[in-house]
Amino acid sequence: MRHQYTNRAVIVMGLLFVAFSATFALVALGGGGSDRVGQVLALDDHDLDAGRSLYLEAVGSPCADCHSLADAAAVSDRASDLDQLRPTPRETVVSILGGHIGAHESRNYRVELSDRQLADLAAYIDSVAGG
Ligand code: HEC
Repeated sequence: MRHQYTNRAVIVMGLLFVAFSATFALVALGGGGSDRVGQVLALDDHDLDAGRSLYLEAVGSPCADCHSLADAAAVSDRASDLDQLRPTPRETVVSILGGHIGAHESRNYRVELSDRQLADLAAYIDSVAGG
């Protein structure tokens, strides 16, 4: 009898552990990882004017502070010139979400910019950079 109880407890603990691990994995993956990049890139019908405004104003730390871009009349030598870099929308989104050597880690973009805003911003840069 005693023995049976012990087995049941082990099984219950095991199930709890599996449930806990699965939840943890989902939260970790959903928290701004590659899934979000795919979600942003899947959006279309971009508002390029909104993208340009974000470039100049985004959440109190505009891209224009650090990245030159002629179309936005942005001049700065703090980071790469986006007219020369000509990032693809994927590169821009990955970078803003913190994937590129943490350059934007200290900014609040990941939290404060919606998927739609990220998509508009990346499309805007793609449409004007280098041209
Ligand atoms: C405080 C300065 C700063 C701000 C503000 C900033 N960046 Fe950056 N960014 C950097 C630095 C530093 C790097 C890494 C070195 C480099 O490429 O110049 C970088 C890299 C990049 C890259 C290149 C990524 C790659 O894969 O090489 C892109 C694209 C980019 N930023 C876009 C943006 C956009 C869009 C914004 C606005 C939402 C922004 N950055 C705001 C400093 C900044």
